Amino acid sequence: MNLPGICWPERLNLARLPTPVEPLPRISAEEGVEIWVKRDDLTGTALSGNKVRKLEFVLAEARRRGARTVLTCGGIQSNHARATAVAAARLGLRAHLLLRVHGAPPPRPEGNLLLDRLAGASVQTITPEEYRRADEIMAELAARESPPAYAIPEGASNALGALGYALAAGEIVEAEKRLGLRFDAVVHAVGSGGTSAGLILGKKAFGLGARICGVNVCDDEAYFRRRITGILRECAARYAPHLGFSEEDVTILDGYVGPGYAQSSEGDLAALRRLPRLEGVFLDPVYTAKAFHGMLREIRGGRLADCGRILFLHTGGIFGLFARGAELLG
Ligand SMILES: Cc1ncc(COP(=O)(O)O)c(C=O)c1O
Repeated sequence: MNLPGICWPERLNLARLPTPVEPLPRISAEEGVEIWVKRDDLTGTALSGNKVRKLEFVLAEARRRGARTVLTCGGIQSNHARATAVAAARLGLRAHLLLRVHGAPPPRPEGNLLLDRLAGASVQTITPEEYRRADEIMAELAARESPPAYAIPEGASNALGALGYALAAGEIVEAEKRLGLRFDAVVHAVGSGGTSAGLILGKKAFGLGARICGVNVCDDEAYFRRRITGILRECAARYAPHLGFSEEDVTILDGYVGPGYAQSSEGDLAALRRLPRLEGVFLDPVYTAKAFHGMLREIRGGRLADCGRILFLHTGGIFGLFARGAELLG
């Protein structure tokens, strides 16, 4: 690959790309601003969502190193763990997942966990305390195999994974040219920072004008500014030595974590119920509903009030709906 300013490492072809960029006419009319969506929920079916773009780079490295097993970690309904399980099956690799549970493991596998199991992944549940040492535990497990298993950090949010979203920024530039328009902002959910980092890297590399605005679903603005800048600096050191990054490059629209990670506020639930009815597009309760809710609030007199045209990056997560059931109907 020979695209602007980045030394691209090897990449697998796992995602259906480019993903569509579509208008949301009814919600735009109701909100008085043009809102579009980039459908990264359509990168595939079970192998879908934002993690597939990252896995294209990360699993290429796992294969190059000769690993036969990949390890990763996340919450019990992790979209990233499910995408890893499905991608591993597609590549003939084994997947071992360390999934965090608060209290007893769920009595029945539902949602993402059901797909993990069907895809043949082995699942090890761990406590929140153990989860803080997940990288260490994965390193120990990896070293026990020969050849060593390949450990993927939470959300595949390292410099290598972030490259997947640098390419997505290039797709947005292409879509702008095709449609003959410019977006003022790209809004997306932030969980472990790799999507944001990649988009910010790609914004510089491909000359995307839009502001990249992440809505955090956990932790806070200071935490993610640090974390995303860290990934960006690693990206620059490894793949884009002429690009420099600082915390000023990162925009986090904090204020929408609500009751906590994977816990919904009334505003999240309202967004989650409104979009399917108005546009036939489904959000997930953990990431995209929070981000969509945050975006709408910021449009109404907040940090997005000066934007005329906004692109919502739909990062997937639909299987999380099936683990929450009728509670979401209201
Ligand atoms: C559906 C969905 N959207 C957004 C995110 C956040 O992306 P990132 O972890 O790259 O910040 C995740 C994962 O964390 C996710 O599963």
